Amino acid sequence: MKHIYILLLGYIMPLGLAAQEKPAVSAGMNKVKLDFRLDAQGHPEYAVYYDQKPIIKPSRLGVKLLDNTGLDHDFVITGTEKKSIDEQWNPVWGEVKTIRNHYEQVIVHLKQNGPGRLMDIVFRVFEDGVGFRYVFPKQPDLKHFIVSDEVTEFALAGNHKTFWIPGDYDSNEYPYTTSAISEINNQPIVASSDDIAVKTVPDKYAVQTPLMMKTADGLYINIHEAALVNYTSMQLHVDIATYKLTASLVPDALGNKAYMSAPCHTPWRTIIVSDKATDILESKMILNLNDPSKITNTSWIKPMKFVGVWWEMQTGKATWNYANRADTVGTDGQLIPNKTHGANTANVKRYIDFAAKNGIQAVLVEGWNYGWEEWFGTWKEYVFDFVKPYPDFDVAAITSYASSKGVKMIMHNETSGSASDYERQMDTAFRFMNKYGYTSVKTGYVGKIIPRGEHHDGEWMVNHYVRAAQKAADYHIMIDAHEPVRPTGLQRTYPNWMASEAGRGNEYNAFGHGNKPEHETIMPFTRFMGGPMDYTPGILKITNYTSLPDKQIHTTVVKQLALYVVLYSPLQMAADLPENYEKYLDAFQFIKDVPVDWDDTKVIEAEPGNYITTARKEKGSENWFIGAITNENSRSALVPLNFLDKKAKYIATIYADAVNADWKTNPEAYRINSYLVDANTTLNLKLAKGGGAAVSIKQVTSGTKGIPSYK
Ligand code: NOJ
Ligand code: CA
Repeated sequence: MKHIYILLLGYIMPLGLAAQEKPAVSAGMNKVKLDFRLDAQGHPEYAVYYDQKPIIKPSRLGVKLLDNTGLDHDFVITGTEKKSIDEQWNPVWGEVKTIRNHYEQVIVHLKQNGPGRLMDIVFRVFEDGVGFRYVFPKQPDLKHFIVSDEVTEFALAGNHKTFWIPGDYDSNEYPYTTSAISEINNQPIVASSDDIAVKTVPDKYAVQTPLMMKTADGLYINIHEAALVNYTSMQLHVDIATYKLTASLVPDALGNKAYMSAPCHTPWRTIIVSDKATDILESKMILNLNDPSKITNTSWIKPMKFVGVWWEMQTGKATWNYANRADTVGTDGQLIPNKTHGANTANVKRYIDFAAKNGIQAVLVEGWNYGWEEWFGTWKEYVFDFVKPYPDFDVAAITSYASSKGVKMIMHNETSGSASDYERQMDTAFRFMNKYGYTSVKTGYVGKIIPRGEHHDGEWMVNHYVRAAQKAADYHIMIDAHEPVRPTGLQRTYPNWMASEAGRGNEYNAFGHGNKPEHETIMPFTRFMGGPMDYTPGILKITNYTSLPDKQIHTTVVKQLALYVVLYSPLQMAADLPENYEKYLDAFQFIKDVPVDWDDTKVIEAEPGNYITTARKEKGSENWFIGAITNENSRSALVPLNFLDKKAKYIATIYADAVNADWKTNPEAYRINSYLVDANTTLNLKLAKGGGAAVSIKQVTSGTKGIPSYK
């Protein structure tokens, strides 16, 4: 057979080819190369190489439709288009000031023999990977259609080491398992004491994305998706014998996957690859594949740190609920108070005082509104009233007190999974926030979703989270969503959607089995690939914080500080209680100082499951901050400060684990020292088992007397 090569720039060439052995189209950017072709039956196939090594072996593409047809076979290529883009943009907030968007794009126009249906596949090849998506052009015979399955495959080239969580449709709050692909088998799932969320894991060989892998020859591969909207989320079914991953879409209540109306497209499927683990963490590919901000005036969107009436409920010292039961009503017709209610006016004022005194911008209060007596596991259509405070929460007084102290209040809207009810109440709830000066809201979706049968990660909910972000933007409200689908870079498009939980946060250390010391060294390679997480770091009282037996935070105090740099979020909680911070004021100083918005980020060294060391430059300042964390092993982190201004002097304040610190036996031992440093200094940070190091580096021109040089 005659081989036909195509290399076109910027125009469409009709081909009418059905089958080629050689790629029909190729594209490349530095070490990353993409091939596309149709096989003899007109099945679309792609392959990805890094430095000539196969990353994705020839793998099928396409979708299946509910009408029993498939847009995955009998295609001919009717044309291809190629273009290169190299541009820059500035995020509203983030890890860096400017992001380069540099890729080569190939659009393959396909037409199906017989029905004549049209589908395009758009590939974007970046220096650090490949993104692709399906586009369904306007056409007479494909108007409204239902996707019943996605054919997309990722045929991996080996039995890679994999960091995975089970393919649950409703929860991503799992610890990671590290295993070879051949050993993926998610039964039995985590023990029941960790069961805060609903769990729906129908396929024991399915895993969630972002999926992080490492090959035997030291390549790092991450598979996820970008710009998930108007579609359902993608999980991956794993063939443990052949190492082939296949898209497995989260169904709706009827078992359908996605409802489409052409012209339309799917989210991007993303493959990030590098021989350096640090490149995976610095990749901006997922953000680049998302649309620019749909919010034009973003001046009201402000990154911030906050404290909250929260950890005291998590640790059992206080309750969300005002009464013990919803049916206990006194002679005045009011609920009978239980005396343990956390969100009472006096207690909230205590947090406001603490925030004001320490320069923390905001206070979150949970358990302030009616409904908490019967919120958990009830699966009711209507549980919460989002504008009705409990009798001991004086919303007007709290607002005026907070504003007199220059502190913002963060609203809490737990929906207990009743998203349809939240949609009905949303305008009223946001108007209430506007009235009382709340500029952000923490939403929550604990429990089974209503509408009944929908899943947290299905299309209906995927669109709900976006609707909430859009609606919040109308009211100039920022969002921190708990229990949503894991992020896919939509914070670029909706920069008021500041953070999500969508993963296993620090709170699991208050109940369940906690998080292993390795957990935070895996999260940036998995959960954080799609966007910021409200991880709630900063628990400094590591032991004896709860009445439950044998509970301990699985880190040292200093590692909790380091998390503020390693785990990026524009909304960061100082999660511990004011009275605990008062006991560790010297360590708390780092939390006061650390920014939540950055001009630059350099991941110095990283290995998933083992360690991460990150340096970041404060937005609009010459100050740098470093966070280094390790797993259960102690280590030294060498950090050359060559990113500092060569001509300037700095004072580095190093928050270090004490020599005898150990997350298990001596977690609260630390030391703090200040030194003079410059761009020639290399810090040698010693991390205890399960420990970390946190460094603030401030440029100085004077006031250095008596401060020793770093040796
Ligand atoms: C689970 C959330 O993750 C947690 O932060 C919150 O306190 C509870 N739900 C109650 O809404
Ligand atoms: Ca949660």
